[in-house]
Amino acid sequence: MSEKKKILVVDDEGAIRASLGKLLRGLGLEPVLAASGTEALAALGPDIELVLTDVMMPDLSGYELTSAIRARPDCAELPVILVTALSARGDRIKGVEAGANDFIVKPVDVTELKVRVESQLKVKQAQDALRLHQLHLEETVRLRSEDLQRTIGKLKQQQRKNQVALLDTATRLGIAAEFKDKETSDHIHRMSEYCEMIARLMGLPAGEVEIVLRASPLHDVGKLGTPDAILLKPGPLTPDEWTIMKEHTVTGGRILADAMSDVIQAGEIIALAHHEKWDGSGYPEGLSGRDIPLYGRICAIADVFDALTNKRPYKEAFPNETAVNIMTEGRAKHFDPELLDLFFANFDDVKRIQQKFTDAAKLAG
Ligand SMILES: [Fe+2]
Ligand SMILES: [Fe+2]
Repeated sequence: MSEKKKILVVDDEGAIRASLGKLLRGLGLEPVLAASGTEALAALGPDIELVLTDVMMPDLSGYELTSAIRARPDCAELPVILVTALSARGDRIKGVEAGANDFIVKPVDVTELKVRVESQLKVKQAQDALRLHQLHLEETVRLRSEDLQRTIGKLKQQQRKNQVALLDTATRLGIAAEFKDKETSDHIHRMSEYCEMIARLMGLPAGEVEIVLRASPLHDVGKLGTPDAILLKPGPLTPDEWTIMKEHTVTGGRILADAMSDVIQAGEIIALAHHEKWDGSGYPEGLSGRDIPLYGRICAIADVFDALTNKRPYKEAFPNETAVNIMTEGRAKHFDPELLDLFFANFDDVKRIQQKFTDAAKLAG
């Protein structure tokens, strides 16, 4: 296969074709001869490096041929040199408008032919190299971004898994504590949904509502440190036993302290604050009003309401109405009055949560 560059020579006069062919061969190039514009278009292909065409030809003129070449997407940048006897300015403009790159005036001088052809071939070579480089670059970028997308996808998946694992562990830790207390895991689930409901009704941002939902199961995690003899004592506790019992708040805070995760951090706040009372008579700090962290005030309502409306070893389940009456007594004493009002004002939501777990229990039972 020849390494020589192919130049398409178009002229209706055989003698001129032959002489141009000879000159090009002399320059180390390989002429491909065409006697008309139509023949030239048929001979065009990716191996042609340049077109040298006559202007005045019977079927297609040199201008028309140039326009036809430019119209082909694969030849849009193929250099075209018009070989013309014309030197009028208007004809040159016509040539430029058709898309010609250069002109050579007949009779063709070999030096001029050499200079103009070589210069156009150099431009084409540079353009080809640039295009190739650009293609290579685009391909590299595409491959890299695919790689990056895959890595990001994997990371996201891993992050989701980690998050789920963390939430799962947090909930199970809460269940473990309640289990020790002989309560069912339903208490945890109902109670955390009540907390979520209050947080949502308050208009907290979605992220915080989610944190309250996930962290509230940890409220009694400190009971893991309470001796069974006290935790499970059927009768009333002595003052000393009460003191130990109350320590579950601080123990919970210690278990959850210094966490990196926002859920566990919220869990720590809740463990410490869920027995504080609005009037300052709660424990462990005796905080009052808005000094009690919000999450603690939310959990106090949810926790007590669920304890009242469900059976415990020491009491039967109260009907909702009784629970509402008892808790209303504690409005602005035990409970944050605004949050309590919000909770009772949306009692349909409360009942929906109760129903959800009753149904789940029936299905399981
Ligand atoms: Fe508690
Ligand atoms: Fe509880």
